[in-house]
Amino acid sequence: MADEKNQSSVSTAEALGANTVRITFQPENITVEYEHGKLPYKDHGRPESILDIALNNNLFLDHACGGNCACTTCHVHVLKGKELLNEIEDDEADRLDMAADLQLNSRLGCQAVIEKPGEVVVSIPAWNRNYVSEGH
Ligand code: FES
Repeated sequence: MADEKNQSSVSTAEALGANTVRITFQPENITVEYEHGKLPYKDHGRPESILDIALNNNLFLDHACGGNCACTTCHVHVLKGKELLNEIEDDEADRLDMAADLQLNSRLGCQAVIEKPGEVVVSIPAWNRNYVSEGH
């Protein structure tokens, strides 16, 4: 009977607010949360893209072309929550073909947009991980 009270960690989705996005950046294991659709736009990449979320939280994700789908420096691997993201479009797929370490879960951070609330985990490939900074 006492065990019934200990169910707070059973489901991450239940722990999240109905409109909350929780995204974790690996391998640093930095997790941020925000309300879906309410993220201030930081002027690079698509609004509410993985790049936009990183910039909103002072997390470094390289974006040499300024988030215009014209390089591959924002390449990430989506480890969880792929179904919460927009479909990959031709421009992004063509650009990704030029990326190093291309995998089935590869996305360009500036083009991968969170379309539904929930939990997402992305990994910044080692070769693309210059540094992660908080606060600057
Ligand atoms: S920042 Fe250049 S493609 Fe994303």
